[in-house]
Amino acid sequence: MRLSVIGCGYLGAVHAAAMASIGHDVVGIDVDEQKVAALSAGTAPFFEPQLAELLQAGLASGRLRFSTHMADAAGAGVHFLAVGTPQLAGGHAADLRFVHAAVDDLVPHLRPGDVLAGKSTVPVGTASGISARIAPTGAVLAWNPEFLREGWAVHDTLAPDRIVVGVSSGESGERAAEILREVYRPAVEAGAPFLVTDPATAELVKGAANAFLATKISFINAMAEIAEAAGADVTLLADAIGHDTRIGRRYLGSGIGFGGGCLPKDIRAFAARAEELGRGESVGFLHEVDAINLRRRDRAVQIVVDALGGLVFGKRVAVLGAAFKPFSDDIRDSPALDVAVRLRGLGADVVVTDPAAIDNARAVHPQLGYERDRDEALRGAHAVVVVTEWDEYRRHLSPEHAGALVSARVVVDGRNCLDAAAWRAAGWAYHGMGRR
Ligand code: UDX
Repeated sequence: MRLSVIGCGYLGAVHAAAMASIGHDVVGIDVDEQKVAALSAGTAPFFEPQLAELLQAGLASGRLRFSTHMADAAGAGVHFLAVGTPQLAGGHAADLRFVHAAVDDLVPHLRPGDVLAGKSTVPVGTASGISARIAPTGAVLAWNPEFLREGWAVHDTLAPDRIVVGVSSGESGERAAEILREVYRPAVEAGAPFLVTDPATAELVKGAANAFLATKISFINAMAEIAEAAGADVTLLADAIGHDTRIGRRYLGSGIGFGGGCLPKDIRAFAARAEELGRGESVGFLHEVDAINLRRRDRAVQIVVDALGGLVFGKRVAVLGAAFKPFSDDIRDSPALDVAVRLRGLGADVVVTDPAAIDNARAVHPQLGYERDRDEALRGAHAVVVVTEWDEYRRHLSPEHAGALVSARVVVDGRNCLDAAAWRAAGWAYHGMGRR
């Protein structure tokens, strides 16, 4: 099938490459010339495992190309809308400027029977406006939210947990759903549930899923606060409640909390939209989820200060991690960098290391020290703070090896990802979050 993907950011670039890899003829459109040039050369504009290989295979097959001209979307039967919806400056709502601009640009190229499949994360109600906007062209709107995680984007796109398609009732909506089922046939045949809903429900599914995940993380971090006060261990607690299959262990990872380009902004936009709908109180708890999450960053800083005897000024602190999570170079709303910046603000001599995100971090926070080499970052440190659970720190850093490099064996495990017993056995003062 011929597809276009409008917007080649995180979501769009991966979607375009993944769709070409399952046999579709895909054009990716973006206004950013540099991004289009990079993608056309088979280079991923951001760190994402497997993406470069997929791009190169797609380009070589002739089934994948990229363009800055919306006119190149003409002739595709399905157009995926994958532009960004950032947080509105000065507010919590989503900024839909890019969505509306992309739809306006696409309208002249739509033909009767084309399907416009919205993938961007939008406030509920956006789809009906877009549907009305494209109605005169004879094209049909379907809402098809995307649930991919950074670092797993290719896997999540090709083997999703579920596919959700929101269409309006009637023949054209049913036909649009069938066309999308065909687009995703390999995943559907491999067993991915294909759920057809109305458009508003499909929009809400995305917001609700992100709100639930954020709530689960903040729930365990709230338990960490209690565990700290009670002298208990939140990681053992998470294991124990996680064995209950109704709860499950995933997303009960405690520590400095969630960040990134999605969860923080999406829960705020979700709450803002609920308020517009007169149902702010229904999701009032999301403000608490946000507040708990941000408190954990303060707590991590406090633990470092305490571990250093109350004074961090002039102390060398090795910060292991800058990305908001492993397998990503994304530093948007990164809790890791937030902790580093605050420690620097207190006068610490902060040295940040990260396997992928140093260049991005340096561009935004030039006041921090950086060291590409993990061991050089550790050398002479008075405290080591693990803030992104990369395998380089979690699995491949032995406490004995690190101990030989530092000035003092003090480690703060902001992700509760280290083997506390092993670090203690090697003579380290180990401080987890929500652990005795
Ligand atoms: C998230 C959703 O998972 C995805 O479905 C949606 O499409 C986009 O938003 P992503 O932002 O890529 O994906 O990252 P995710 O893996 O969900 O992690 C988000 C943040 O939560 C990270 O900062 C991570 O470190 C943190 N996290 C995650 C925890 O603190 N504890 C956990 O147990 C899990």
